[in-house]
Amino acid sequence: MCGIVGYLGKREAFPILIAGLKRLEYRGYDSAGVALLSSGKDLRVYKEKGKVANLEQLVAGRDLSGTIGIAHTRWATHGEPSEVNAHPHLSQSGRLALVHNGIIENYSALRESLREKGFTFRSSTDTEVLVQLIEYIQQKYSTDLPSAVRISLNKIVGAYAIAVIDREEPDMIVAARKSSPLVVGIGEDNKEFFIASDASPIADYTSQMVYLDDGEIVTIRRGKPIQVINLNNETIDPKIEQVEMDFGKMQKGDFPHFMLKEIFDQPDCIEDCMRGRLLTSKKRIVLSALQLHHKELVEAKRITIISCGTSWHAGLIGKQLLESYCRIPVNVEYASEFRYSNPVIGKGDVVIAISQSGETADTLAAIQLAKEKGAYIFGIVNAVGSSIARAASMGTYIHVGPEIGVASTKAFTGQVTVLTLLSLAIGRERGTIDPETYQQIVTELANIPDKIRKVLKSNEHIEEISKMFTYAKNFIYLGRGYNYPVALEGALKLKEISYIHAEGYPAAEMKHGPIALIDADMPVVCIATDKTLYPKTVSNIQEIKARHGHIIAIVPEGDVTIHKIADDVIEVPETLTCLTPLLSTIPLQLLAYHIAVRKDLNVDQPRNLAKSVTVE
Ligand code: G6P
Repeated sequence: MCGIVGYLGKREAFPILIAGLKRLEYRGYDSAGVALLSSGKDLRVYKEKGKVANLEQLVAGRDLSGTIGIAHTRWATHGEPSEVNAHPHLSQSGRLALVHNGIIENYSALRESLREKGFTFRSSTDTEVLVQLIEYIQQKYSTDLPSAVRISLNKIVGAYAIAVIDREEPDMIVAARKSSPLVVGIGEDNKEFFIASDASPIADYTSQMVYLDDGEIVTIRRGKPIQVINLNNETIDPKIEQVEMDFGKMQKGDFPHFMLKEIFDQPDCIEDCMRGRLLTSKKRIVLSALQLHHKELVEAKRITIISCGTSWHAGLIGKQLLESYCRIPVNVEYASEFRYSNPVIGKGDVVIAISQSGETADTLAAIQLAKEKGAYIFGIVNAVGSSIARAASMGTYIHVGPEIGVASTKAFTGQVTVLTLLSLAIGRERGTIDPETYQQIVTELANIPDKIRKVLKSNEHIEEISKMFTYAKNFIYLGRGYNYPVALEGALKLKEISYIHAEGYPAAEMKHGPIALIDADMPVVCIATDKTLYPKTVSNIQEIKARHGHIIAIVPEGDVTIHKIADDVIEVPETLTCLTPLLSTIPLQLLAYHIAVRKDLNVDQPRNLAKSVTVE
């Protein structure tokens, strides 16, 4: 969480920094700030609580000149969201300004030690400790900024992406990373430089980028090539990559919110995700990852899926697909639990890491752990060039384009699509899926985008249904088999954006507890799209009806039975059982969206959340 941007070059820095912060707001949005510098002038810092737009209002009419600057949009870890806790933070003398994404775990001990040396602290953040420490080192060793940053970072325990500027060395930015992402953009002839938490604030200006690795420190000087060193002061050759971004997908178009646009984008996204992989004419799936790493994947004895949030729900569907069609046992673990669980994992194990952002700190740390133990890592990632994509031994991008709405939608269906392709491709190589079933699923997969288009036609009907639930305090979501993870995902969507407490449950488990909660005030969303489990789900629905729960049922087109029992019914086209999640998820996304809109909430940037969780 938190986004950082920096600029050094020939143009005015401020407009570039503000535009960059807006692109990074998905990483956190509880305060924002900027520090500007130009030769012969003071270092100016402007900060404001709330969104980047608030910062823009604050600075109207102020001196915004300067061709060097750093900026920050925050998701609070230490210290409440406030102007004083917002970044950039200044050092004691005011000569240094620093922005930080991450957590400094030993900040408390460092702060005490700096206090004893006469430093005073204004904020309650961990970050302020680092900028004071750098100044202390500068003074103590009479050293330049890059050395002071390196020496200080060697004393830091935790995660960071930082950028620092120094009033006394005004043609320089020093930046560094460990466990939080940082990209450097290089303009033509080294005349200008950009830094950012991801490539999106940079890609408008240059496609030449360097993704810093853990423990690397970059010094950017006007007119000179960048210099990269590691924490041991060894010189590193920067690897310049060519990065292009499609900004069309980052526009809302005619949609009122990114989330709604991203829900409606799903048919096209799934087509993009399957393009070149699902060869309908040949009725085959071709995954280059499988061709390149055939042995590791096809001969896997066991698979562990690690992920967080929505990606973890996709993992639960992946487990069912991989076990059904590849007959390989699969565990699905929360990355945050896996990393501290002393897992029995090693050589011969395949670990599939699923992540939209490719930056989730827990998933990244779980990958490092599994790698150290000798496991083979397969990444299923959306953000191209992200840390997880680079840490994996091999992987497959989901190719659904940038997801801006904090609540994940198209990334989920993209992840499920890739997991389906992967399971079918591995199963075919292993001979664990019969050819007829393989052909059937491959043929039906090609129909899924059109079937989602059909589900999206229920948007107005779902909006109508949503009106009734603005004041609901609780919701239960029930599903079975492939649709149990869909129930979890539906409940998560509602919690995230409408702040209504919601629980997802396997439908039959309801009898073991949640049924006690059911009364006329309890809306229960029942997913009954799985033909094989349909009669069982009907019985579960009857049990809710008998207790006067309000039933919203997701049913296959043409259903008669549930129509007679449920209060509200949303139809989705029939499909094969293993593909039902790709259809039944859509109405749940729309339901959560419309309830949040009715409650007049900020759908794209819900409170307390961030899209890229780079702290553990
Ligand atoms: C955050 C986001 C969720 C996401 C989760 C995992 O909580 O708000 O939408 O599912 O992180 O993120 P990842 O990028 O690893 O999929």
